[in-house]
Amino acid sequence: MISNSEKETYKIARKYCENLKGGEVVLLNGDLGSGKTTFVKGIAVFFNIKKEEIISPTFTIFNNYKIKNNKNIKNIIHIDAYRIENEEEFLETGALEYFYDKNTIVFIEWPENIKTFLGDTQKIINLKTLDNNKREIIIT
Ligand SMILES: Nc1ncnc2c1ncn2[C@@H]1O[C@H](COP(=O)(O)OP(=O)(O)OP(=O)(O)O)[C@@H](O)[C@H]1O
Ligand SMILES: [Mg+2]
Repeated sequence: MISNSEKETYKIARKYCENLKGGEVVLLNGDLGSGKTTFVKGIAVFFNIKKEEIISPTFTIFNNYKIKNNKNIKNIIHIDAYRIENEEEFLETGALEYFYDKNTIVFIEWPENIKTFLGDTQKIINLKTLDNNKREIIIT
């Protein structure tokens, strides 16, 4: 898909959520500024989270958003593994206990830094900057 604005990326993300049931681990690949966090913000509306609440968890490594109005999905975990230098460090965050939990959806930025823990994740989103406001978004 091609997104021509931040808003279009929100919309694509929202649509993407319609197919999630809980238990998914979604990998977000793409360079700095390609729109990974923006994509996660896009899911906010769908789950009744305030968009402003979704901030890149750079220092905490992960944020847990509690979902109240969904039958199956109780947690959205947003991980930013950018700063993870060795995989041990990630274990200490406690985020791993949410992986593949049936009431949780996990979104991971910079997943290449925590490869060991990803198993055979099938959900991958590749983002690429084409120009200022244009992004290519490939969903697998
Ligand atoms: N079509 C678009 N889709 C997404 N973001 C866009 C688009 N056009 C412009 N932008 C801008 O690009 C930036 C994307 O930033 P964002 O934080 O989402 O990137 P990121 O991939 O999470 O980067 P990082 O690796 O640093 O975490 C935002 O400032 C956003 O407004
Ligand atoms: Mg980000």
